[in-house]
Amino acid sequence: MKERLQQLQQDALSALQQAANLSMLQDVRVKILGKKGLLTEVMKGMRDLSTEQRPVIGALINNLKDRFEKTFVARQVELQQRDIAARLASEKIDVTLPGRKMASGSLHPVTLVTNEVVEIFSRLGFAVAEGPEIEEDFYNFEALNIPKDHPARDMQDTFYISDDRVLRTHTSPVQIRTMLKNNPPIRIIAPGTVYRRDSDITHSPMFHQIEGFLVDDQVTFGDLKGVLTHFLNEFFGKGHSVRFRPSFFPFTEPSAEVDIECVICGGKGCRVCGKTGWLEILGCGMIDPEVFKSVNYDVEKYSGFAFGMGLERIAMLKYGVNDLRLFFDNDLRFLKQF
Ligand code: PHE
Repeated sequence: MKERLQQLQQDALSALQQAANLSMLQDVRVKILGKKGLLTEVMKGMRDLSTEQRPVIGALINNLKDRFEKTFVARQVELQQRDIAARLASEKIDVTLPGRKMASGSLHPVTLVTNEVVEIFSRLGFAVAEGPEIEEDFYNFEALNIPKDHPARDMQDTFYISDDRVLRTHTSPVQIRTMLKNNPPIRIIAPGTVYRRDSDITHSPMFHQIEGFLVDDQVTFGDLKGVLTHFLNEFFGKGHSVRFRPSFFPFTEPSAEVDIECVICGGKGCRVCGKTGWLEILGCGMIDPEVFKSVNYDVEKYSGFAFGMGLERIAMLKYGVNDLRLFFDNDLRFLKQF
């Protein structure tokens, strides 16, 4: 029995050493110490021992258990350390690697241009106003001296929602809404989205305008020229000639269109200005007394000027963009340039 125990001890300890992982180590323990384990088996022989032999063998068994336990724990720690080391090695992160950059958005060129125009006029004391994009016939046409049979109302140009509602075709209805709510003096700049049935490289069915108007006593065409010339110098830079060409709008009298010396070729004539050396920038004029009548202003007392321009158009000229549709394609390669 003594030999069997010594043999068992030797086998058990070497099995512990050979266990390649934690679960194999557990298996060894069960195989030796478990209910049906090898030690239990050997211990069955205790019955046949004499009283003198029993304590001797008992001590041997205790010694075996003791050594087994110590070796088991040592091996367990060893295997655990090995597992931790392996995990640390495989899950290592290199904190010196550069991080992934967050792509930041940017303002749309039309927004940039709108902000800039608003800022220039703010410095002259103009306040921002807005109006609805679905507009009543009265504000979009009637009160602006555009009667029912006027060609501008043609189904070709206007998106009708119903008989008396349209998608506004310009920002001029904001003039009417503002004047009905306020008394002069008034200085307003009104950016917004407008709609027309038109689509090619320089026209989009949805585009943006900015309206400006000023009403007070004794406002003259000279004031209009001064304000717009100042604006164009601020926006496109000084040194471009500006000219006022007689024109017609139902809601202004007299009316003019304003041209600036081509900002691309400096007036020599190029593809953008159609070889004329001039770019048409905006429409303007002195507010027609008929408009004042429809908002109940005293036409003897007040006068004013108004102007309107296309924001995509001035954005194209400022940034040298040759196709208006680029503004609405939402191609990031285009938008990121601003
Ligand atoms: N509303 C006109 C247009 O859309 C522009 C304009 C505004 C002209 C104000 C004169 C005065 O063409």
